[in-house]
Amino acid sequence: MKLHRSLLFVPGIRENMLEKAAGSDADIVVLDLEDSVPPAEKARARELVGQHAPRIAAAGRQVHVRVNPGPEAREDISAVLSASVGGVSLPKVEGPQDVRDFDVLLREFELEREIRPGATALILWVESAQGLLRLGESLVASTRVAGAALGPEDYCNDLEIRHTPGGEELDFARNTVAVAAIGAGVIPLDGPYSDFRNDDGLRAESERVRQMGFKGRFCIHPAQIPIVNEAFSPAPEEVELARRIVEAYDAGVRDGRGAIQLEGRMIDVPVARRARRLLAAAAALEERAGPPRKESDS
Ligand code: COA
Ligand code: MG
Repeated sequence: MKLHRSLLFVPGIRENMLEKAAGSDADIVVLDLEDSVPPAEKARARELVGQHAPRIAAAGRQVHVRVNPGPEAREDISAVLSASVGGVSLPKVEGPQDVRDFDVLLREFELEREIRPGATALILWVESAQGLLRLGESLVASTRVAGAALGPEDYCNDLEIRHTPGGEELDFARNTVAVAAIGAGVIPLDGPYSDFRNDDGLRAESERVRQMGFKGRFCIHPAQIPIVNEAFSPAPEEVELARRIVEAYDAGVRDGRGAIQLEGRMIDVPVARRARRLLAAAAALEERAGPPRKESDS
């Protein structure tokens, strides 16, 4: 996966939203066949998503599709898989067998459609207690797994708890998903923030989960995208500090010191390494998505 700060869900049955998705600022557009599509509309949604995916990809967007779990996934993939679909979100993953079965299914259709086998990335959704506890095994069940996402509403349903505005009840799941994903070398992604008119709440929560290790999150409304993109990009002051750290550290090493002080704090190998990584991430972002936000914008 390339940029993956914001992933916008677009209900596969909403034609006007599918139309608009090509102009979206989201890093990835996720055409949904699962829970935003009522059962009676699934067939129509497959048809629409099959038509719109190539058009949206041709406009330069990364396109993913969210399929239904279980046997319906075959019909979904059969209807929509093409070279325009860079990735698939697999919901309600309970364990590694779900991933292996889906990997075989994807490979079958990739071969049939002359797509390089394994080229379609996979994002696994944790939406239950069992899915969470077996995530480590699921993530290594197929080499196409590129990310892990937490579905807050279904997860809370499984635990028979309320999803509160503060979301503290998700802390264990979020920490587990972030650590498991990073440990497996894939990208941790947080689920959507459903109070979609509450910009401050979205910003605060996104900054909090970034600090848990998440690299991006799913969105449900276009207005969420700029907030999420900003929250998951290095802020200018972070970049500036990282520059000062690297400069001071390198000067220290030239003077024969492995640990130095900068502005009253100790800088040693891991601190300098983190600063270099942040600078590399900021440079990559600048190259791929235009310059980072200016201080006057925030
Ligand atoms: N993708 C693309 N366009 C979207 C969009 C989305 N997810 N959500 C809203 N828009 C568009 C609307 O079509 C509307 O366009 P218009 O001005 O040309 O008519 C504009 O953005 C403003 O929409 P707004 O009126 O503020 O939203 P709404 O009240 O109609 O819809 C939701 C709110 C939450 C129902 C809607 O955003 C949505 O369906 N989101 C996705 C839900 C989803 O996929 N859920 C499953 C994953 S959890
Ligand atoms: Mg769900």
